[in-house]
Amino acid sequence: LDGTGMAKLRINGQALEIAMDPATPLLWAIRDAANLTGTKQGCGGAGRCGACTVIVDGAAMLSCAVPIGSLEGADVTTIEGLANHPVTAALVAEEAIQCGFCIPGFACAAAALLQQNPRPSPEQVDALPNLCSCGCQPRLRRAIARAAGTMLAPAA
Ligand code: FES
Repeated sequence: LDGTGMAKLRINGQALEIAMDPATPLLWAIRDAANLTGTKQGCGGAGRCGACTVIVDGAAMLSCAVPIGSLEGADVTTIEGLANHPVTAALVAEEAIQCGFCIPGFACAAAALLQQNPRPSPEQVDALPNLCSCGCQPRLRRAIARAAGTMLAPAA
């Protein structure tokens, strides 16, 4: 935080100054200050469900578990920033969305995984900390494989 008590972040490429207590979890800065409601709280901020996952400086992060005071200058991507990402298209193509609550967090976790590892193993995909109560895991796995194939394919 700077001397004004404002947390400066970039969210989906937009510079924001957030006037909230530095202990406020990033999740609430995203939802209540940036008005981006795609990011969900699932487990009450206990760090167990992955619904709140966003990408911070290229890595997947549970936004319920990180205070904005520790993120000065960070570059945050939420599901709204992945509208044109291959993961999003793959989730739709594989019909991997049932109730949809886990999807914002899953998409961010998958996009960060593919950025770090373009050819993740099934075990690495299964290790993502994102729960789907609808039982869509097989389709979610296929969506990551599809997105990986799209991202690895040479541009036409
Ligand atoms: Fe469940 Fe963050 S809300 S891990």
